[in-house]
Amino acid sequence: MTERQVVLRETRDGVQTLKLNRPDKLNALDFALTEGLVQALKDADADPSIRVVIVTGAGRGFCAGADTREFQVLTPDNQALVERRAALTTELQGLVKQMSKPVIAAVNGYAMGGGCGLALSCDLALAGESARFGYPEVKHGIVAAIVMAGLVEHVGRKAAFDLVATGRTLDAHEARQLGMVNRVVADADLLGEVQALAQELAAHPLQAMQATKGIFHRVTELPFSEGLKIGQQLNAHMRAFRQAESTE
Ligand code: COA
Repeated sequence: MTERQVVLRETRDGVQTLKLNRPDKLNALDFALTEGLVQALKDADADPSIRVVIVTGAGRGFCAGADTREFQVLTPDNQALVERRAALTTELQGLVKQMSKPVIAAVNGYAMGGGCGLALSCDLALAGESARFGYPEVKHGIVAAIVMAGLVEHVGRKAAFDLVATGRTLDAHEARQLGMVNRVVADADLLGEVQALAQELAAHPLQAMQATKGIFHRVTELPFSEGLKIGQQLNAHMRAFRQAESTE
């Protein structure tokens, strides 16, 4: 019997769709799925034939966050495992920013805790009408810790504290109002809309797209005056892009 693939990969016209494949557990992130997704994202980034990546979930969930059943073994007397888990989650939550190509989340259902963080970590996110978002960690007696930076970055302090302190669930429209997703579409249209957006990005000149993503994530980390400076440098450098494209 072949081993079930934890992340399904499908590539069409330069766009690779990564589908979390643990539908019976709403794609909760256990070790295997987290490792599988990290590897799949790294492979996609390294593959020159892929220009844009889509992340979505199999079944009725996008990703229900950390696998709560693993909490039983993640105890202080298993400190090495606890630290390995924290490092793996941190790697996943920060990975899209490190990648050279755009990643789009297609949020097709529950996006909770680390799953919500995953959606926010993508460069763009579209949600189906039935998508639900939230950071319920505090209800489990833990903290939405690794996902906190990404949440504050997207929604600001007041809204972020509301979400992590209440653990409440948001519908797709509220998530859109808070800036957690770009657009809400009918469930049935979600994958088609995301695929169309991905194809639009994939059609842009590669070097310009990669440099746009690169400078975007640097600028978000920098004070305005330094962001302006690296913009000036890229502006001078990018003049060579069009020449490079035309000689390809
Ligand atoms: N970890 C492990 N398993 C999970 C899970 C998680 N985070 N979230 C859902 N599942 C499993 C359920 O245990 C259930 O498995 P079972 O059929 O073997 O019992 C299956 O996925 C379906 O979940 P269920 O709760 O029956 O679906 P629902 O539609 O009634 O509720 C949620 C959906 C998302 C509201 C609910 O599953 C939930 O609250 N999950 C936990 C989310 C969470 O707290 N994430 C952050 C963890 S720090």
